Amino acid sequence: MTKREIITLPDPLLRKASAPVERVDDELRALIDDMLETMYDAPGIGLAAVQIAVPRRLIVMDIKYRKPDEEGGEVAPEPIAMVNPEIVSLGEEMRLHEEGCLSIPEFYAEVERPSQVTVRYLDREGKQQERVCEDILATVVQHEVDHLNGKLFIDYISRLKRDRVIKKFVKLAKGEVVA
Ligand code: NI
Repeated sequence: MTKREIITLPDPLLRKASAPVERVDDELRALIDDMLETMYDAPGIGLAAVQIAVPRRLIVMDIKYRKPDEEGGEVAPEPIAMVNPEIVSLGEEMRLHEEGCLSIPEFYAEVERPSQVTVRYLDREGKQQERVCEDILATVVQHEVDHLNGKLFIDYISRLKRDRVIKKFVKLAKGEVVA
């Protein structure tokens, strides 16, 4: 497994739609493992392939993960990989969650999304699966699937706040000091 570099705002790739994965093979499984290692190392609870500059429809998640020094201690990893995920239905109830993104480091904002989603995808063996995701997993799945469509969680916040955070990252990318 290899840790990959995570691209950040304002990298234009983050705004591009990812292409479907054509084959679930050993090469793809190696990519999944690299993504998991990158996500755990960051640390984060979700990562889309486009965030390591591979614009393919593939996401990984693990909502159980905690840093060893965090409350709750060390828990066994429960990695989930979804190839070509498709949200087939959304619940009516909404939930508010403070989201962050490894491609927008150190910025957090509350986003409201449906608290239940049904997602259809291929697993790492290429087998079709359907899973009902609730609560935080519902939030994470929607956040990651958005990445595959070039959408970011800052698209859900006010334009003023969004412009401010984008401006900050543009300055950072130019090497300017941000106050
Ligand atoms: Ni993200």
